Amino acid sequence: MSRSCCWFLAVLWVWWLPWMLVEAEDQQGGDCLAMKCGNVNISHPFWLTDRATGRACGSDPYPDFDVACINSTPTLRSSIPFNRGFKILNISYEERSFYAVDLGKLDVLNATDKCRPVFYNTSVKLTPPFKIAPVNLNLILYNCTEEDGAAATARLNRELAPTNVSCGNQWVVFARAGVPHDGTGNYNNYTLKGCAAVVVPVPASSEGANASNYKQLFDDGFLLTWDPP
Ligand SMILES: *[C@@H]1O[C@H](CO)[C@@H](O)[C@H](O)[C@H]1NC(C)=O
Ligand SMILES: *[C@@H]1O[C@H](CO)[C@@H](O)[C@H](O)[C@H]1NC(C)=O
Ligand SMILES: *[C@@H]1O[C@H](CO)[C@@H](O)[C@H](O)[C@H]1NC(C)=O
Ligand SMILES: *[C@@H]1O[C@H](CO)[C@@H](O)[C@H](O)[C@H]1NC(C)=O
Ligand SMILES: *[C@@H]1O[C@H](CO)[C@@H](O)[C@H](O)[C@H]1NC(C)=O
Ligand SMILES: *[C@@H]1O[C@H](CO)[C@@H](O)[C@H](O)[C@H]1NC(C)=O
Ligand SMILES: *[C@@H]1O[C@H](CO)[C@@H](O)[C@H](O)[C@H]1NC(C)=O
Ligand SMILES: *[C@@H]1O[C@H](CO)[C@@H](O)[C@H](O)[C@H]1NC(C)=O
Repeated sequence: MSRSCCWFLAVLWVWWLPWMLVEAEDQQGGDCLAMKCGNVNISHPFWLTDRATGRACGSDPYPDFDVACINSTPTLRSSIPFNRGFKILNISYEERSFYAVDLGKLDVLNATDKCRPVFYNTSVKLTPPFKIAPVNLNLILYNCTEEDGAAATARLNRELAPTNVSCGNQWVVFARAGVPHDGTGNYNNYTLKGCAAVVVPVPASSEGANASNYKQLFDDGFLLTWDPP
């Protein structure tokens, strides 16, 4: 076999690995009779996988609405490989909305080697049926380079709070809280020279919150809605 072939197979295997593990862990959680994961009721259009048979609960499961029940935590998948998805806190079936936590952000905060993981815009991790509700506020994470002085300028900015995410003398991440939803999605009013921005929705109730509490704001979750399948 050629080297490129083996490399391809290795990539394919690594790509599937997280979902194989999730499948294995599913065995502890999915229960078609109760249709429940942790304290959250999971029903149409969402669906779980039955712990005994390994098959989907419900006869006609909708793609994108599959919920993995991992250690009693209902988890919606991320559209980005190797990135953990969203922990569902609660669901309002009447209002077609739910509160969720972007787990990928917490993983970056928790990483031991801060130089490696990457922050993604929360919006790009969502599959098409799911939308970030405009009532949320946002927290912007600015990844500023040290070399050109962008980080030094950011340190003087009272509206920015330093975070624990940085990589030696290369770059450092700052947080800004209280940014309203921008329907265009480009957040042009909030660009900073030399700093790459990532937008994370936080609850509307966080109005006036201190950006230094970024971890707590991520943990509180934010509101999403879905389009009927
Ligand atoms: C889940 O469903 C059960 C049975 O329909 C109901 O009694 C319970 O209150 C629901 N729990 C939540 C958190 O909505
Ligand atoms: C759902 O969770 C959010 C975030 O924790 C909370 O603000 C809201 O009150 C909860 N809603 C219900 C119906 O429990
Ligand atoms: C982060 O790490 C702490 C301590 O190692 C652990 O208790 C916590 O569950 C971790 N959080 C996440 C989101 O993985
Ligand atoms: C910050 O930006 C650098 C490039 O300047 C990138 O290598 C790094 O992964 C980014 N860090 C995060 C946490 O996104
Ligand atoms: C960041 O690090 C500081 C000092 O190392 C610590 O006091 C603080 O709790 C950390 N904050 C978070 C959100 O991890
Ligand atoms: C950007 O700022 C301008 C001037 O302050 C304001 O008129 C406009 O509404 C803002 N745009 C957004 C999307 O917040
Ligand atoms: C995140 O979204 C903002 C606003 O749309 C955009 O300016 C930025 O380039 C995006 N960042 C990444 C890493 O995709
Ligand atoms: C935000 O919290 C930080 C750390 O607790 C504190 O130093 C700072 O003064 C606070 N900022 C505001 C505007 O309250």
